[in-house]
Amino acid sequence: MLPPKLHVLFCFCSCLALVQPFDWQDLNPVAHMKSSAWVNKIQTLMATASFGQTKISRGNGSYSVGCTDLMFDYTDKSTFLRLYYPSQGEYRSDTVWIQDKEYFWGLSKFLGTHWLMGKILSLFFGSMTTAAAWNSPLRTGEKYPLIIFSHGLGAFRTIYSAIGIDLASHGFIVAAVEHRDGSASATYYFKDQPAAEIRNKTWLYLRTLRKGEEEFPLRNEQVRQRAEECSQALNLILDIDRGKPVKNVLDLEFDVEQLKDSIDKDKIAAIGHSFGGATVLQTLSEDRRFKCGVALDAWMFPVGDDVSSRIPQPLFFINSERFQYPSNILRMKNCFLPGRERKMITIRGSVHQNFVDFTFATGKIIGYLFALKGETDSNTALGLSNRASLAFLQQHLGLQRDFDQWDALVEGKDENLIPGTNINITDHYATPQNSTGRKKQNL
Ligand SMILES: *[C@@H]1O[C@H](CO)[C@@H](O)[C@H](O)[C@H]1NC(C)=O
Ligand SMILES: *[C@@H]1O[C@H](CO)[C@@H](O)[C@H](O)[C@H]1NC(C)=O
Ligand SMILES: *[C@@H]1O[C@H](CO)[C@@H](O)[C@H](O)[C@H]1NC(C)=O
Ligand SMILES: *[C@@H]1O[C@H](CO)[C@@H](O)[C@H](O)[C@H]1NC(C)=O
Repeated sequence: MLPPKLHVLFCFCSCLALVQPFDWQDLNPVAHMKSSAWVNKIQTLMATASFGQTKISRGNGSYSVGCTDLMFDYTDKSTFLRLYYPSQGEYRSDTVWIQDKEYFWGLSKFLGTHWLMGKILSLFFGSMTTAAAWNSPLRTGEKYPLIIFSHGLGAFRTIYSAIGIDLASHGFIVAAVEHRDGSASATYYFKDQPAAEIRNKTWLYLRTLRKGEEEFPLRNEQVRQRAEECSQALNLILDIDRGKPVKNVLDLEFDVEQLKDSIDKDKIAAIGHSFGGATVLQTLSEDRRFKCGVALDAWMFPVGDDVSSRIPQPLFFINSERFQYPSNILRMKNCFLPGRERKMITIRGSVHQNFVDFTFATGKIIGYLFALKGETDSNTALGLSNRASLAFLQQHLGLQRDFDQWDALVEGKDENLIPGTNINITDHYATPQNSTGRKKQNL
């Protein structure tokens, strides 16, 4: 069994090896990068693998979807997010999925591989686009419910587009935050205004555990910072909604003033994946403006034990079948208190990466072999997760939409769903002191 964090790497390595076997370790980066023959080889491989044809699913709802990036203010305290929103005009798919090569370098660091892997990833995926119209004008005349989305460890704001776009196509504004707590593979900010004017980005890469460093204090500090960043993102969007002049330091074509009076301020929820699932819990416990939360395959380790009792808002846990383990489920169960609205479902045949765009970005066989895909088709798995989320959001945000057609999914009623969990925690109730230590690597 490969450790999960290596799955992505091996996916690509084996991809290369299938066509032209070579020993990865023997590759001398300097010599090879200078050789154009080597670059040609990679390009041929890309063509052979037909990566350009893979598609991240487009939204199923009736709204066209637009996308922009928003950065407010300078330094690593600035707010950075990708916004998906209902847009005017026709369907376009010209939003570049991952815009800067540094994100690929960061991914390569997260995977613990040679920096060269970042180059290769960037060659494979650098030009891929997602199904949203870049900087397209906002569709006006309606107030939209708002979702703040939090990414997983080693991820960043752009790689949950299949979720963000689908929610926006159903009439939500989705703000996918990029966290500055050292949990993103990479992220950037501008030191000050002159730096922003000349686009001099300061990059911040994944902070790995130091040798001998205890994990919990770091992760707990990170999850608190993440929750603050979610609240700060909400402050920013509500300021814009109120008409406060806000300058997007990225200086994009999208005029943020369009967002004035666009938010339905009583209808705000948090959604997150993995570390982002933990962030949902932390955020809800600190900020009551969030009316409910959906935690996708949450990694519960970072959250302090006291938090579970401090969340009055409704919570929905959507889990993959493969990622979960008893100590994690036990921590979720701690949130199931009398008088609190809690739901849990598990998607059969699904893996942790089913919620991340990579599940769509790789070929079928390789994706399955290396756990980017589960046995259940990626579209089906994400479709279930999204529709169950929509039904839950309608219930708890009081939406007047037709998402109640999927109410049964919230109860786990579908051939591809398990109500509750597939994990047997009977033994763990007896030995709770042994239930906390286990670590999992999360993208
Ligand atoms: C960009 O910023 C870095 C530090 O943040 C600084 O050392 C460098 O000189 C800047 N580059 C330019 C061209 O101003
Ligand atoms: C979109 O709809 C199709 C057909 O109903 C379904 O199979 C798929 O899972 C849905 N995808 C998403 C992301 O909701
Ligand atoms: C769960 O584990 C306990 C103890 O190992 C066992 O007695 C019980 O039958 C299991 N339950 C299920 C549903 O597998
Ligand atoms: C906890 O696990 C360790 C080893 O994994 C074992 O030696 C110990 O007895 C366990 N403690 C309890 C209370 O079960």
